[in-house]
Amino acid sequence: MKLLVVGGAGYIGSHFVKAALDAGHEVAVADNLSTGHRASVDERALFAQLDVRDQAATCDLLEQSTTDAVVNFAAFSIASESMQEPLKYFDNNVGGMVSLLAAMRSVVLGGVCPASARSARSALAASCSRCLAPLPAWG
Ligand SMILES: NC(=O)c1ccc[n+]([C@@H]2O[C@H](COP(=O)([O-])OP(=O)(O)OC[C@H]3O[C@@H](n4cnc5c(N)ncnc54)[C@H](O)[C@@H]3O)[C@@H](O)[C@H]2O)c1
Repeated sequence: MKLLVVGGAGYIGSHFVKAALDAGHEVAVADNLSTGHRASVDERALFAQLDVRDQAATCDLLEQSTTDAVVNFAAFSIASESMQEPLKYFDNNVGGMVSLLAAMRSVVLGGVCPASARSARSALAASCSRCLAPLPAWG
């Protein structure tokens, strides 16, 4: 299969990438390198530096490739930090997943990729900053 591994430069993702390549899959990695490392990406994999919350760029990447499946490891994962900065975690972990799913749906169903998706979501998050209790927002 042709796999797109989002967050594939991170701890878990980079091990998945190697295992998938060893199993005979073709792998492309998309990662914004916020906590991951380019050197952790197996040299057999293609690499694109991309933030999955950038829905338009994610759409472009999916449109340019012939991906059979997407595997998502992109997230912040420090439990203590998620208690102190829950919005940061909701924005990246939940918002990133929603953005990725919307991009996948747009490409699969042939819809339009909204360039303004991220700014609309960020405005919503800012307006809700006082609504969120400090509950674990990761995992
Ligand atoms: N490490 C563990 O023991 C463990 C255990 C269970 C579950 N998990 C989960 O696995 C996932 C990955 O964890 P990890 O330990 O590999 O973390 P990590 O920080 O090493 O990897 C996350 C990767 O995602 C990338 N990333 C983050 N936000 C991104 C974005 N918006 N767009 C593109 N790339 C982005 C980072 O640059 C990094 O390469 C998390 O959801 C975590 O909760 C981890």
